[in-house]
Amino acid sequence: MPDEPAPPPGHRPWSAAMTDALYGERGFFRRHAGPAAHFRTSVHASPTFGGALTTLLLGVDAALGHPSRLDLVDVGAGRGELLAALLASVPAELAARLRPVAVEIADRPAGLPAEIGWTDQIPARVVGLLVATEWLDNVPVEVAQVGSAGLRRVLVNDRGEEISGGRLTGPEGRWLDRWWPATGRSGRAPGPDTGRVEIGLARDEAWARAVSAVDRGLALAVDYGHLLPGRPAAGTLTGFRDGRQTRPVPDGSCDITAQVALDAVATAAGRPFHLLTQRRALHALGVDGRRPALALAATDPVAYLRALSAAATATELTTPTTLGAHRWLLHPRGIPLPPRLSDVDHDLGG
Ligand SMILES: C[S@@+](CC[C@H](N)C(=O)[O-])C[C@H]1O[C@@H](n2cnc3c(N)ncnc32)[C@H](O)[C@@H]1O
Repeated sequence: MPDEPAPPPGHRPWSAAMTDALYGERGFFRRHAGPAAHFRTSVHASPTFGGALTTLLLGVDAALGHPSRLDLVDVGAGRGELLAALLASVPAELAARLRPVAVEIADRPAGLPAEIGWTDQIPARVVGLLVATEWLDNVPVEVAQVGSAGLRRVLVNDRGEEISGGRLTGPEGRWLDRWWPATGRSGRAPGPDTGRVEIGLARDEAWARAVSAVDRGLALAVDYGHLLPGRPAAGTLTGFRDGRQTRPVPDGSCDITAQVALDAVATAAGRPFHLLTQRRALHALGVDGRRPALALAATDPVAYLRALSAAATATELTTPTTLGAHRWLLHPRGIPLPPRLSDVDHDLGG
């Protein structure tokens, strides 16, 4: 913020407030029982999601020629739930070659299988699959608001009270011009006075670093977000606590999250990339919400109920108004996209 006056005591930019509130000494993700206690991600929704990622992992393994060591890196791993599920579901031959590593700011939870490594840094030279499910929406963003004085940085205190700060210039201004332009900058028509934007520069850089850590294999981000033609006019920053959406107060008591500008993130990490909805990705990987035939209920009621429950969770993962609207951003590095996904229609990329 080179040309901005110092903010009044207690107020600071959203990115600084979010960093402390989520990842500081007493931050939300360090202190609390884990993300699963506060909101539902695809990882927690159903074992079906892990099953689809197992299929993807097998595809990456094949594309790499079944190397003697296959890395599986989960960035923003929560409590390691996904890695534990994948480790348990791959064939024994692959489990023996698999090197699962959780990249997580929170401490390693008790009881995690010993094969799973735990670190707060993305390892270098990954050969295999790097996944990041609902990580990028928690990378701190800067918030700005359009008002009569133009576009101003939003400053916030620990009670969530906001005031207006300085103008946005330099890399942040350039990011807005390119990725969220209808904000009164660039000589374009300003949005309404309530118009808010979220500057995802730090998030773009974080994903670019993660993708560049993959020497050969695939990097996959799964998250909710938007594209240039449809940026939300009032921004998306919000909070979650105990399973409920709440006002984002940066005091460490709640999750604070902003939807991801997915085209910006993809472009920052470079081509080739492929962006598609979770619904399409999961269908391609063999997940569907079709109910079992009623005849099964008569011949094998237990199998029928199991299949019915699997269909219900598959539906939650693929319904366009719920988790199915999340998008998969895939960056193949030195391998082709695994066959099941390469034939699917993509929203963006190539
Ligand atoms: C919304 S949770 C997602 C957890 C899990 N991936 C899932 O889908 O259920 C985001 C996680 O990312 C972690 N995280 C955020 N930034 C991180 C970073 N720079 N390095 C490591 N972990 C990070 C947080 O601590 C939190 O556990």
